[in-house]
Parts: sequence; C-alpha cells; structure tokens
Amino acid sequence: MLETGLVSKAIDVEEIRKDFPILKRKVHDKRLVYLDNAATSQKPKQVIDTLIDYYSNYNSNIHRSVHQLAEEATQAFEAAREKTRAFINASKTDEVIFTQGTTEGLNFAASSLVSKYVKKTDSIVVTEMEHHSNFVPWQQAAKRAGAYFEIVSVDDEGFLDFSDLDNKLKGAKIFAFSESSNVLGSNLDAKELTKRAHENGALVVVDGAQSAPHMPVDVQNMDCDMFAFSSHKMLGPTGVGCLYGKRDLLASIPPFLYGGDMIKEVHRKETNWNDLPWKFEAGTSNIADVIGLGSAIDYLKRMGMSNIRRHETEICRAALEELAKFPDVEVYGPKVAENRSAAISFNVAKIHPHDVASILDEEGVAIRSGHHCAQVLMERLGVSATARASFYLYNGYDDLEALIEGLKKVRQVFQ
Ligand code: ALA
Repeated sequence: MLETGLVSKAIDVEEIRKDFPILKRKVHDKRLVYLDNAATSQKPKQVIDTLIDYYSNYNSNIHRSVHQLAEEATQAFEAAREKTRAFINASKTDEVIFTQGTTEGLNFAASSLVSKYVKKTDSIVVTEMEHHSNFVPWQQAAKRAGAYFEIVSVDDEGFLDFSDLDNKLKGAKIFAFSESSNVLGSNLDAKELTKRAHENGALVVVDGAQSAPHMPVDVQNMDCDMFAFSSHKMLGPTGVGCLYGKRDLLASIPPFLYGGDMIKEVHRKETNWNDLPWKFEAGTSNIADVIGLGSAIDYLKRMGMSNIRRHETEICRAALEELAKFPDVEVYGPKVAENRSAAISFNVAKIHPHDVASILDEEGVAIRSGHHCAQVLMERLGVSATARASFYLYNGYDDLEALIEGLKKVRQVFQ
C-alpha cells in the first residue's frame, strides 16, 4: 500500500538508524516505532559518546581555572557556541546565549524585554497557536506592565488571520510567535511576519523549538530580534537550549539571573556585568550538554538540514494521504505537506486520543496525546485533546505503515 523501502530521496533511513541505539529496542515485543519527536528526539551514539568522553576525560568547570582540564572544557564549550552560531547563521558568537531550553529562553525574553521596552497601555502580541511557553510568559509580563495582551486568530487552514494580525500589530511593542506549530504543524513565514512587525515598530521574538530541528534557520535573513530553541528536540541532550538575540538588543537589557561568571567586578555597592554572552550565563553552565548539543549540530550538518526537511516533507505527504483514507480521522493543520512540518495532530471520531495512543503503544508505536501545552489552540479547534504523530530523520515509510496498521487496530477495538 505504501511506497516501500527505507530510502527516501533525501535521507537513507536504514543507515541513519544504525546510529541510534534506542531504535534497536522492542516495546511490548514489537519494533519501537518512535513518532513522538515533537516532544523529544532520540540521540545518536555520536552525541552519547560525546557526553561519555566529557565525563570520562575532561570534566571540569569552564572560564575559571587555568589547569589543563578546565582549558579543554572551556574550549569545547565555546566551540559548541560557534557551532550553534553557524547553525542559525547568527553574525556573532556573542549573540548566542545558552539556556536550559526554549522555555527558559522565552521567559528570559519576556521578562527582560517587557521590563525594558513595554509601558502601561502598550501592547504585546502573540498568536492563538502558541505553546504555553510562548504564551504564559508574555501574558504574565503584560499583566505586570499593565500592557494589553493581544492574541492573533488562527484561520481554518492553520495559519494566521492576516487582517487580524495587521490590526493587532498596530502600535505593538512586541510580537512573539512560533515558526512552526507543535500542534498544527503549520510552518509560518517568519521573515514576512518579522517584516510586518518591524514596520509597526515591534520587536520580534520567535519560538524555534519546532522549526530549528527540522529546517534550515537563518536568523540574519529572518531579521528577528530573538530566537529560542532546544537541544533535546534536535538529537542533543535535554536541559540545554539557545537564545539568540541581536547584539545591540542584548547589550541594552539587564541580566536575567545573577551569580558567578556573569560579573566583571563586584564591589560593596555596585556590580559590573561581564561581556556578552556571559552576562546572561550565571552560575556553572550545563557544560556537558552544551558540548553534546555541539555534537548534535555536527550530526545534523552532516545530514544537511535541507535534506532533512525534504525527507520529512515526503513522509508527511504520504502520511496525509494515508490518514485521509480514514473517513473518521480528522487531521488538524495545513493539508499540503510543503506548508507544514511532519508533526501531525489528528483525532479518531468518538475515540479519546489517550485511548488511541495506548492502543498504538501496544503495537510499539509511540505518539503523544493530550493538549500539547496549547490549550488556547485546543479551544480554537473545539477539542480538549488530540493524538499527534511526529516524524524525524530516522523515520521511514515502515514507521508510517506501522502507524496506519495501528490505527486500523484502534478502530477494530472500539467498533
Ligand atoms: N513542546 C513539546 C511538545 O509539543 C513537549 O510535545
């Protein structure tokens, strides 16, 4: 029924799978079919080995001591910053701040930008499709500032309603949006949205958690003011992410956290901040995992982000076609693979998504079900939850076939 074989035109899935030890394991005695990549991705042995190498051979704190281990750790940590810079094509390494992940980056952006640039009765704009981590920090910062909090509507196709957007951008101070929705899969034109917001004098903060792992990102071309993403969704370790910010903007805002390494001089009455980016990296960083992120970037670079995007578009197209054959399955978000990611949310009529996910799990197929931390969007869609299958570079047509066969089982069980 499906195109067979593991080799899509862009990526050799069979070869890639050899790098991912976890993909060899069984779940309920079935081959693991991992389709929960929008929640977190699996890790290749190259990343796992990087962590083992750090802890086995040069574990040490960075930026402080002059001994050999500290020197090696500092070099590897700062090399990861340069790799991260190149990955998103930032112009300078000091525009790359390491965080705990997208959530921390967006909280930092909301707290710092709003306290500096937003006054009472100004407005902050987000969209209906935001993950809670790009919604709640702005909602709460707006409350603290006495600012208006505006939410741009999502149209029936899963994109932004442009007339609503243009209205709400008038006089806005900040526009925060995700480049790719974790529920709808919609890929937004971040460059065009940034241009519209800038024309209205707003700063632009982009949530790249679901885009950076899956497509080429160029923050200079996009021209956004800040861009946040996480390592764990792009083959790297958990607990680390990046917040990119334009240098002048970063220089203009105060530190978010205070402590060691982010200061130049501390006196009894005054303290001076360290240079960028360390001004924003208080305390001992997550050294091993930052170096692990660097290794994940090496891996992705070898595969080629454009190839990964092409591969996922092929799989997404096939998945949309197959799901459309079920009369009782509703797929949310854009229906054209080229306009979206391969994170595909759907519901099976009269069957709760948690039941769908549990039965699929018995078949070895791991998907996510729930509100996906996007309750405002759930309200817009008129549902409380969805099932979501999300594909990555190691997923082949055999995984899609397992999902489709699993869905047939789901319907049999509930008939
Ligand atoms: N934000 C992640 C997801 O959508 C956890 O599943």
